[in-house]
Amino acid sequence: MSYTPKILAFAGSLRAQSHNKKVVGVAAEGARKAGAEVTFLNLKDLPMPIYDADLVEEHGFDRNATEFQQILLAHDGLLIASPEYNASLPAALKNAIDWASRANGEVKLGATFKGKVAGIMSASPGSFGGIRCLSHLRAILSILGVFVLPDEFAISAAHEAFDDNGLHKDEKMHSLLEQHGANVVEILKKMRG
Ligand code: FNR
Repeated sequence: MSYTPKILAFAGSLRAQSHNKKVVGVAAEGARKAGAEVTFLNLKDLPMPIYDADLVEEHGFDRNATEFQQILLAHDGLLIASPEYNASLPAALKNAIDWASRANGEVKLGATFKGKVAGIMSASPGSFGGIRCLSHLRAILSILGVFVLPDEFAISAAHEAFDDNGLHKDEKMHSLLEQHGANVVEILKKMRG
């Protein structure tokens, strides 16, 4: 039976008009064309309190964090585009990863991320494209057992980089982003197919 990789695509930004949502959308289309089943997640749909072990003790594991864990467990690969906030990743993304990494009932510590393959990207209106968040995101995912593709993309001047259909106006960059998504799929097929 042929193997269809399942890819979870999301942005580290909550805002509706997020440039990072557009970036991850292009990579996700590349993954889909390469034969993956792609799920888009809007982190805003799963608001989580700031992780606090006392809160877990008193009220149990957060329901949205549990759902995020289950969604992660149901996927083999990740496509994440994140903004850079003050030279790192946004608190909402770090908090969601922190929650998901914890043990929760039958979910063992770190099990949600281990063995996944990820492609990471960033976007910013600035000229560096938010690239400084990527080394942090890479380090976090790596320590959780994710194979993060060596290539990464930082989209500069992101506020003027996309057309109304969400396509990157630079065809070369558009196809590099699509290829990035496809590479996650190809590696998963080699690893698990
Ligand atoms: C930013 N922004 C930003 N940009 C950047 O290139 N380097 C940085 O360090 C920061 N720092 C930063 C901190 C905070 C708190 C905010 C709210 C914003 C700007 C950021 O790149 C811009 O708002 C992007 O548009 C955010 O990404 P989305 O929401 O468009 O995906």
